[in-house]
Amino acid sequence: MAKPIAHAVMHCFLLLLLTGVAVATTHGIAEGPEAVDEWFSKLGQAKEKVTKLHFYIHDSVSGKNPTAVTVARANTTSTSPTLFGLVNVADDPLTVGPEPNSTIVGRAQGIYACADLSEIGLILYMNFCFTAGEYKGSTLNMLGRDVELYNVDEFSIVGGTGVFRLARGLVTTKTYFYNETTMDIITEYNVVVLHY
Ligand SMILES: *[C@@H]1O[C@H](CO)[C@@H](O)[C@H](O)[C@H]1NC(C)=O
Ligand SMILES: *[C@@H]1O[C@H](CO)[C@@H](O)[C@H](O)[C@H]1NC(C)=O
Ligand SMILES: *[C@@H]1O[C@H](CO)[C@@H](O)[C@H](O)[C@H]1NC(C)=O
Repeated sequence: MAKPIAHAVMHCFLLLLLTGVAVATTHGIAEGPEAVDEWFSKLGQAKEKVTKLHFYIHDSVSGKNPTAVTVARANTTSTSPTLFGLVNVADDPLTVGPEPNSTIVGRAQGIYACADLSEIGLILYMNFCFTAGEYKGSTLNMLGRDVELYNVDEFSIVGGTGVFRLARGLVTTKTYFYNETTMDIITEYNVVVLHY
């Protein structure tokens, strides 16, 4: 007896899950293949918007709970003055303000690698995954070259999801705080995005 009941319960649960997926929305934006088709079919009438965002990203490579870890390096990385070949993966808190205890509104998840033979220069790929506030459930996808520790760096927004579908834009970053001993870094991000 127990088995068919368990089966039925599981079936209902799966149905619920599927229904849930079909009507899932991110801040009023319907998700799923049909919803995306419909969204594209209405794109002709949609007006492009400009959205500006400002936040901080806390990248900690030190301590008991680092948010960025080294996953690979070349044999020659340790003798390279530019750390060429070093690859890190990060899941950094994205906060409203620069303080370590500032409100977290997302995660900056990505990969950065030392990709320059003649100076310290990184290739940086990041997904900004918003987990709270106005853009909760949406993402922005960034990539570019990170070279200026004490000046402004510029990156591209190459896409997005949720409210940021078909996003493109520019990011300027500036180091807010850098600890030369631990190499922990807090960076200020200004983002300007075009999206629909
Ligand atoms: C790199 O390290 C591996 C494993 O220790 C070794 O077999 C290889 O010869 C090294 N290559 C160079 C270029 O040093
Ligand atoms: C963060 O910590 C400081 C003191 O360390 C405190 O004054 C401030 O209110 C805290 N901010 C938040 C958002 O908790
Ligand atoms: C940098 O980190 C070290 C080790 O945690 C700490 O002792 C030092 O005070 C920090 N420096 C600054 C400027 O925060």
